[in-house]
Parts: sequence; structure tokens; C-alpha cells
Amino acid sequence: AAWEKQVRHSSTPRRVNGFSVLVTGAAGFIGSHCSLALKKRGDGVLGLDNFNDYYDPSLKRARQNLLSKHQIFIVEGDLNDGPLLTKLFDVVPFTHVLHLAAQAGVRYALQNPQSYVKSNIAGFVNLLEVAKAVNPQPAIVWASSSSVYGLNTENPFSERDRTDRPASLYAATKKAGEEIAHTYNHIYGLSLTGLRFFTVYGPWGRPDMAYFFFTKDILQGKPIDIYRTQDQTAVARDFTYIDDVVKGCLGALDTAEKSTGSGGKKKGPAQLRVYNLGNTSPVPVGRLVSILEGLLNTKAKKHVITLPRNGDVPYTHANVTLAYKDFGYKPTTDLASGLRKFVKWYVNYFGIESKHSKETQHFDESS
Ligand code: NAD
Ligand code: UGA
Repeated sequence: AAWEKQVRHSSTPRRVNGFSVLVTGAAGFIGSHCSLALKKRGDGVLGLDNFNDYYDPSLKRARQNLLSKHQIFIVEGDLNDGPLLTKLFDVVPFTHVLHLAAQAGVRYALQNPQSYVKSNIAGFVNLLEVAKAVNPQPAIVWASSSSVYGLNTENPFSERDRTDRPASLYAATKKAGEEIAHTYNHIYGLSLTGLRFFTVYGPWGRPDMAYFFFTKDILQGKPIDIYRTQDQTAVARDFTYIDDVVKGCLGALDTAEKSTGSGGKKKGPAQLRVYNLGNTSPVPVGRLVSILEGLLNTKAKKHVITLPRNGDVPYTHANVTLAYKDFGYKPTTDLASGLRKFVKWYVNYFGIESKHSKETQHFDESS
């Protein structure tokens, strides 16, 4: 296969004692940032992504171009392709997997339930089936989600809080992922670390997320919907800047224990850990919009509407004490500074007129 030739002939350099990391979802928002960060510090990285069209695949291709300038190769394939995954592990002895590929988004699940089951449940199980059989087993760090806290509003959320009230099928599949991880850890000794990300935003972000399409709509003079809960309180999110999340992902990889394997000599099971990676500072959606209005120097046409039962949760707020204790995770970017960086990237990438078409060639990586 073309990728095999590429991978065998590329240096996929490994620093002394460095990692060799398979990053699934590498053409995605968080995956592309993490791949670059790993590569920049000297780890070997190989990506996997199916380049699906959940959102404009040209953005995924542009991220891929950026990665290829840094000699990071992305294999085009699906998590559910067992023989492909097995082959990947045959060719590269990965020490770690950073598993970020998934069907994301909460509202899309209303119309597309099977997509979540396929990628987030079947795809995850397929990856674990392959990883459990590899010798030595890679340590796996995977993306869970703040959405597992469901309808909780007691705050802030800590990892021991209840997660039995998912509000969307997306949340239910992420919660299922945590249960599945537990099983593979228990039976096969796989080392698994789940990261509950909280509404991550930044340059190269996802066009299906509110901060991104609000920016587009405000620039184009189109109205935006600002949700309020059914009891008319503001909907708030613990918006977390991408660079903080990347640091958290690398910290989790760095502190991931080696797997014991089912026949491992080490006493006791390998770890199963779950961490919040949030910003610890929830912001109402109305405030998000007013920051964007300031940065774009344009008034938004706002429709405040009562949140329909569409999978959204009313509130998120991370307690990150555990991630701080175990790998020094400390978010440092407030929403206004992070959105400033996003808007700078957005204007550079799309052009101020926000004509989506041809201008995508003119991006540069400085954001
Ligand atoms: P993203 O959609 O930009 O990235 C996911 C990538 O995975 C995409 O490029 C997609 O093409 C790929 N992919 C999807 N299904 C696949 C499959 N079956 N096989 C191969 N590739 C597949 O999303 P993101 O925001 O970068 O999210 C990364 C991870 O973090 C996801 O697991 C998501 O659920 C989780 N997460 C994200 C946020 C956030 O706010 N961005 C918050 C919580 C959790
Ligand atoms: C985001 C991601 O999309 C999910 O993939 C991820 O799992 C989740 O974060 C998480 O933290 O786990 P969400 O917080 O719903 O989900 O992000 P957006 O869709 O960007 O919404 C942000 C906020 O804007 C929410 O409070 C939402 O209710 C609100 N919103 C959204 C509006 O007020 N109006 C809209 O038109 C859309």
C-alpha cells in the first residue's frame, strides 16, 4: 500500500527513549494539533483518519497538508478496518496510541445515530481488539467528553460525579467508551487513560461548533441563536483553549503506565484513569457572543431561544485537580485571549469576507 511505502521510507524519527505514537483522528481539530506538538518535541507520529464529510473535508485536507510539511503522514482509513489496523502495528511498533477519532457533535446525533455507534463504539472496540493482541501492548490515551456528566449542574464536575444521565446519543457513546475501556483494562491489562475534554476551541477548529459558525454568521450578517435553558437561565460552557488541551494530552501520554498485558509479570492491573481537561471557568454563551462582537467589530443579530431538547446540556464546569496532581495540567488561556487567536486564524484562513471557496490555499500555519 502507498502508506506502507511512505512509512517504511520515512524516518518516523524517535528521540532516545521517545515515543512512537499512532494518532487516530489526526486530520481532525485536536488530532492535528497534538500530532504537531508530539513531532515538534521529537516523538514519532503516524496519523490515521477516514476524512469523512461530517464537516467540510477540505479543512481536514488543509490540516493534512500542514502536517505533511512537518513530515507527519496520515494513513487514510477507518477505525473499523481491522486488517488495516493490524498492519499498521506490524509496520510500526507503536508505544502509544492517542485515540481521538470519533463522531463528534451532540446535535447531529438526532438525525445520524448510527454514525456514533459505528465510530465511537464499534470503531473503539476494533482498535482495542487490535491493541490487546499486539506485543508489547501500546498505552492508550483516548478522548472521552464532558458530555458524560449529562444533566449535572452541581459544580464543578469531578471525575467521581455521576455520569448516568447522558443527554445525547453522543454522550451515551462516550460513556459507553469508558465502560468498554474498563473491560479491556480488566481482562487484557491494557493501559487506558480517558480524557474528558470540555468544549475545545481555537485555530483550525471545527466548523460545526458554535464559536466557529457564530464567527462566520456574524461576519456575514446572518442571525444566530443563543440558547437559554428551559428555566430561562443562561447556558454556559467551560470553553477550553486548544493549546491547554494539547498540553494535557501530552501530559497524559507521558504519565501513562506501560500495559501489563494479560500475561504481564507486573503485579496488579495496568492503570485505567479518567481525567477532566477543562478550563475551570464556565462562560455563558451570551458572553461568548459579546467577545466575538468585540473582536469582529460587528454587532450580531441575536435570537435568544429556549434550548430545544436536542442533546445539549445546560452547563459544564471542570474540576481539574486530578490532572494537575498527576501530570501538572493547568489551563492558562482565558476565553477572550483564546478567541482572539481563533479569529486571527479564521480571518487569515478564509479571508475577512469569509468567502469559503478558493482562499483556503492561502493559509499559513502561524495562527
Ligand atoms: P474532529 O471531528 O475534528 O476530529 C475527529 C477526526 O476523526 C476527524 O478528522 C474524522 O475524519 C476522524 N474520524 C471520525 N470517525 C472515524 C473513523 N471511524 N475512522 C477513522 N477516522 C475517523 O473532532 P475533534 O474536535 O478534534 O475531537 C477529537 C476527539 O475529542 C473526539 O473523540 C471528540 O469526540 C472528542 N471531544 C472533542 C471536544 C471538542 O470540543 N472539540 C470535546 C470533547 C470531546
Ligand atoms: C462540544 C463538542 O461539539 C462536542 O463534540 C464535545 O463532546 C463537547 O463539547 C464536550 O465538551 O464534551 P458543545 O459544548 O455543545 O459540544 O459545543 P457547541 O456545539 O459549540 O456549543 C457551545 C454552546 O453554544 C452550547 O452551550 C450550546 O448550547 C450553545 N449553542 C450552540 C447556542 O447557543 N446556539 C447554537 O446555535 C448552537
